[in-house]
Amino acid sequence: MKITNSEFLMSNKDIERCPKPNLPEYAFIGRSNVGKSSLINMLCNKKNLAKTSSTPGKTQLINHFIIDNIWYLVDLPGYGYARNSKSNIKNWETMIVSYLTDRENLLCTFVLIDSRIPPQLIDLEFMEWMAENELPFCIVFTKTDKLKATELKKNLDFYNRKLSENWDALPIMFISSATKSLGKTEILQFISDTNKLFTVETL
Ligand code: GTP
Ligand code: MG
Repeated sequence: MKITNSEFLMSNKDIERCPKPNLPEYAFIGRSNVGKSSLINMLCNKKNLAKTSSTPGKTQLINHFIIDNIWYLVDLPGYGYARNSKSNIKNWETMIVSYLTDRENLLCTFVLIDSRIPPQLIDLEFMEWMAENELPFCIVFTKTDKLKATELKKNLDFYNRKLSENWDALPIMFISSATKSLGKTEILQFISDTNKLFTVETL
């Protein structure tokens, strides 16, 4: 699958005001600055579709994009921004928990993980929470262009071992680079396959 049309629709704090849940939807989440917005732009071939920044905390709301008029892509605000206030974190939690658990057309969430660093507790706890709530997710390792192949392999092996300590089955994983357009074919193929499972009657 190739994306030919992608458009920003709306930003929201409130799931009630999100677009009608009549199309399959995919969300992108992960620590602040991990590369969510950059990955979205790479998948859509549009440099400035989702706002990116070298300063963490750029994305603050639930951002809906409509893709080829048949599915929604959602850019979510990141977690783990060290300079966030307690009330900001609480607001994020309320908004994200409600969105992830109640959005009925959300077929899968991509959890982005920085491939350069060892497993972080905040990411592991987030994925644990997703699994406990039976919310489907995939992992996308980002910024792999910044690593040598041997370093990447070492980090991925380590990540697999870490996840295997608690889980019998591991989620689907993708390797990506927004600068090198790596992972695009695989992620879009997964979305295209998953779209076929969606019928409005199942809502
Ligand atoms: P928040 O919205 O703040 O949570 O951040 P985000 O996860 O959306 O990250 P964003 O896409 O804004 O990227 C953060 C920084 O990482 C930017 O400076 C990007 O240019 C850079 N970046 C993102 N993806 C890649 C990548 O695959 N390779 C490289 N080299 N840099 C990347
Ligand atoms: Mg962002």
